[in-house]
Amino acid sequence: GSKTLSSGYILALDLGTTGNRAFIFNAAGKIVAQAYKELTQYYPQPGWLEHDPKEIWQDTYWVMQTAIANAQISPSEIAAIGLTVQRETCLLWDKTTGEPLHKAIVWQDRRTAPLCHELQSQGYAQEIYDRTGLVIDAYFSATKLRWLLDHISGLDLNNVLAGTIDTWILWKLTGGRVHATDHSNASRTMLMNLKTCNWDEQLLDIFQIPAHILPQIQPSLGKFGITDTNLLGAAIPITAILGDQQAALFGHGCDRPGLMKCTYGTGSFLVAHTGNNIIRSQHQLISTIAWTQANSQQQLNIGYALEGSMFTSGACIQWLRDSLKIIKTAAETETMAKQVADNGGVYFVPAFSGLGAPYWDMNARGAFFGITASVQTQHLVRAVLEAIAYQVLEVVQAINASCSSPMQRLIVDGGACENNFLMQFQADVLGIPIERPIMRDTTVQGAAFAAGLAVGLWDNYTTLVNQRQIDRIFEPTEASNSARANFATWQKAVQRTLGWVC
Ligand code: G3P
Repeated sequence: GSKTLSSGYILALDLGTTGNRAFIFNAAGKIVAQAYKELTQYYPQPGWLEHDPKEIWQDTYWVMQTAIANAQISPSEIAAIGLTVQRETCLLWDKTTGEPLHKAIVWQDRRTAPLCHELQSQGYAQEIYDRTGLVIDAYFSATKLRWLLDHISGLDLNNVLAGTIDTWILWKLTGGRVHATDHSNASRTMLMNLKTCNWDEQLLDIFQIPAHILPQIQPSLGKFGITDTNLLGAAIPITAILGDQQAALFGHGCDRPGLMKCTYGTGSFLVAHTGNNIIRSQHQLISTIAWTQANSQQQLNIGYALEGSMFTSGACIQWLRDSLKIIKTAAETETMAKQVADNGGVYFVPAFSGLGAPYWDMNARGAFFGITASVQTQHLVRAVLEAIAYQVLEVVQAINASCSSPMQRLIVDGGACENNFLMQFQADVLGIPIERPIMRDTTVQGAAFAAGLAVGLWDNYTTLVNQRQIDRIFEPTEASNSARANFATWQKAVQRTLGWVC
């Protein structure tokens, strides 16, 4: 076993869809400094979204240096780095020059929908689901990598490396020495076999991805490599890599069946731990890896999860602010929603990037229904918030249908969980309490805890997560009945948006 360190700091990197952040945690598990930089979003065509991998790396480097400077510590005092990233987003780069060969294709990007439809019509859906736990959708990396391989001219495959964002940044951090990923990120590529936890030959064949361009898959908690000393002036081990939703699950202490969390970010991601078993949903949820760790005999402990990925939630609030300009700040939506007694008959479907769980319709698009002349902006705002909660209700119902006993409580984090109206409405429609912790940056906390445990700065996961403090519990109220009654109407609205783009 590893020797327990008594001092040192953890540097946690959270590289998300809208921005990159670095946090420094002390040995007591408390945040001492942080830095953030927003990331440029490139929309080359409607439904497409790209990120510049060089910008992600430059910003990662900048936030690391800034957080270290803000903490007034020396890099040599950092015991380990934990890395958590937006999932599925992927890229190709040149092994020799280190130059990206194209911009990264982001998880929300729908450009490979035609290829997905082709695979569906060729009858691959069941086989892909059996092997990966995933539903064929442009969301996952496999078709995105295929697109890159097809569209970059003059590729020399012997000189190409592929990866999700964790792999790219790990490679940069280690000065091009390590080309690896962890099981939680690999499980989102649609190329990893969920049972064997290895790249699956059959899938590589279906998607025509050469095995040698893919990273090595390693346990989420473990030794990935050390930073190139030229970067920060110290050789710091990278000891944890997790997908961001899995990191939040870890940070909330959801390490066994019965525990689930929902992160309300760009999208909403509801993840329930299912223990060491793959639970298959009959309701279009995906089965995925929670996190993995090898024991002292090098046996792999695999934690699985069920997930409902809802692509658009916080992004609709951003849209109200930046595109429709009917609010100035996200916080205003809470006051506005409370100014009206109900939704005024207005329903909203947040299908900006198609719909994820449980519909998986790449051709659905967003819509407002029930507009009459008496509708005020407050009703529109309220309809948007209600839709965020209805999506989560649908996924929780699907989880309950797949698990032996119904979920008792939902733990939340992410930007939109600040909204008290939304959280109360969520508790009302679900009919179970919502637990909101004081520390809302659970994703980065999860990455820090994982890295610190793996390096031996901490030795007990339970003690660590039990330090979490609850900010507020939202209990279901008598408004529950009307909220639930409107759910059926919302589902009717969803049906009308399916298959909108043909
Ligand atoms: O699957 C996509 C998810 O990992 C993105 O999360 O927080 O970067 O929007 P976020």
